[in-house]
Amino acid sequence: MAGILERKVALVTGGASGIGRATSLAMAREGARVAVADRTEESAAGTVALINAAGGQAIAIGGDVTAEADVAAMVARTVAAYGRIDCAFNNAGVAGGSVGPGRQRLHELSQVSFDTMLAINLTGVWLCMKHEIVQMLAQGGGGAIVNTASIAGLIGLATSGHYVAAKHGVVGLTKTAAIEYAQDGIRVNCVNPGYITTPMTKEVVETRLDATLAKVPMNRMGVPEEIAEAVVWMCSDKASFMTGASQVVDGGYFAA
Ligand SMILES: NC(=O)c1ccc[n+]([C@@H]2O[C@H](COP(=O)([O-])OP(=O)(O)OC[C@H]3O[C@@H](n4cnc5c(N)ncnc54)[C@H](O)[C@@H]3O)[C@@H](O)[C@H]2O)c1
Repeated sequence: MAGILERKVALVTGGASGIGRATSLAMAREGARVAVADRTEESAAGTVALINAAGGQAIAIGGDVTAEADVAAMVARTVAAYGRIDCAFNNAGVAGGSVGPGRQRLHELSQVSFDTMLAINLTGVWLCMKHEIVQMLAQGGGGAIVNTASIAGLIGLATSGHYVAAKHGVVGLTKTAAIEYAQDGIRVNCVNPGYITTPMTKEVVETRLDATLAKVPMNRMGVPEEIAEAVVWMCSDKASFMTGASQVVDGGYFAA
């Protein structure tokens, strides 16, 4: 398909759902061949089916971003299928309710919750970057990486200390990688979504939608497709002078 990612190969983690699914679809629409990765190959296959139905090309890969062998295999399978990796969207992540009771202040968090959050939302991003960069350096010609941070990577958020710590870490890793690989033609940026309607925010919608929207100047949640468009652009050659940036897409939350 013709588009701003024509002839590119993209790897997306967390591609079975929400922002990752919408971005996989948008990348394919813009001409990329997409490796859709998620915890299980079966879940990623749902997104691949949507891409194929729209006339795009994609493969499904299962794996856990906290396991280095799985991450190495995700990269290897992408390269085996499509020969290279030009764009990577390191997006797999979880909210507090997935690693503990959720809505806990710092002194209430267990070490298991804290460590699990950091393992998925921060170490997972680093492991993906590590193996993608090894491939990009080996193949030559540079590349573009986008990591999913959050507005919680730029500000504090009560009862989400571990999530905030991980997402601030993603912003720091992004800046450092941008500096380290600029001379290799590898651009590294992050997207910082505000509140987006996905399975991750189901509990927010059900329990505190009004209070949440009161902090958003546009007075609505975003939809995954609104993050996808920014990510596609950051991955494309149109963003050729953009690296080390944190791109907020949040309906005005961070500005208010
Ligand atoms: N939804 C929001 O409001 C919002 C706001 C800011 C940032 N984010 C971030 O966006 C990213 C995507 O979230 P979403 O809202 O689309 O949620 P989602 O739950 O719909 O999708 C997250 C995906 O990541 C996958 N995943 C989780 N842990 C994994 C692991 N260890 N290995 C492999 N895959 C794993 C899940 O299986 C799931 O498919 C996350 O990093 C999240 O922190 C979301």
